[in-house]
Amino acid sequence: MPDRPKRVRKAVFPAAGLGTRFLPATKAQPKEMLPVVDKPLIQYSAEECAASGIENIIVVTGRGKNAIEDHFDQAPELEHFLREKGDSRRADLVRDIGAKIHFSYIRQREPLGLGHAVLVARELVGEEPFAVLLGDVICDGPEPVTRALCDVYEATGVGAIAVEAVPRELVHLYGIIDARPANERKWGDRLRQVIDLVEKPEADKAPSNLSVIGRYVLPPDVFDCLERTEPGRGGEIQLTDALRTLAREHGLWALTTEGKTYDAGDKLGFLKATVEFAAKNPEFGDAFRAYLKSLKL
Ligand code: UTP
Repeated sequence: MPDRPKRVRKAVFPAAGLGTRFLPATKAQPKEMLPVVDKPLIQYSAEECAASGIENIIVVTGRGKNAIEDHFDQAPELEHFLREKGDSRRADLVRDIGAKIHFSYIRQREPLGLGHAVLVARELVGEEPFAVLLGDVICDGPEPVTRALCDVYEATGVGAIAVEAVPRELVHLYGIIDARPANERKWGDRLRQVIDLVEKPEADKAPSNLSVIGRYVLPPDVFDCLERTEPGRGGEIQLTDALRTLAREHGLWALTTEGKTYDAGDKLGFLKATVEFAAKNPEFGDAFRAYLKSLKL
């Protein structure tokens, strides 16, 4: 095989889903634009990319998702208005949102599944490794998860996905991996070799309690795997099915995350993220915690 680039420069954000779990809020606005405290969900992922050395974000959008493009675009009138008022702090905030990374957009014409959304980005990714981040998942912790996955890929040339342990009684809600120890000294117990992936297994049939959280770094070979993937669960082209092929044919690592993950595309996960980020907020965290303590629930 010819030498291929190993440095991960690009990330794909599949954001063309319908967000049905969050209706009615998502009827006329993208789920990715729901704010957790003061930032839309997708901005947390963009900041994770910036902290991970990613240079290009490719957002896969669909109908009704224009607000995402506007959010990462310049807003000269708003910036000018704030500067005229002498509010340079907020003006800089507005300017910096999309300034650190180059954004491209491509449409998935029909929501045919997460795997299909990734495949839509093929031309823009080209023959290089890339990250995939689900924009409704927020990862919070000591290291950016995408950076940790890039480190694994750049050292080994093999794709890597982030996983976290979930209670056994909840495995039926997640994609679960079957894996064996990787025996790679640098990562110790955190790194495993994926043997297989199972979507939402029953607790007694689950091969582990390690769930796929929505952060991936993949080689371009995954596109061929996706091309060969037939529609699966729900008639959609599932990324999980393509990853099973990738694991078999090219290998795949699973890295356990060290921080906390919030599935904010789900109402309860969203509320947990909101409360925990608000409680940590430097401006009003103390007051918010005091308020929470005062509640008689
Ligand atoms: P989800 O199943 O979490 O998102 O897909 P959804 O379909 O928007 O939401 P629900 O389940 O109806 O509430 C995981 C990710 O894949 C993207 C979504 O935008 C989300 O980031 N996705 C899903 C696509 O881009 N295209 C699709 O066809 C399906």
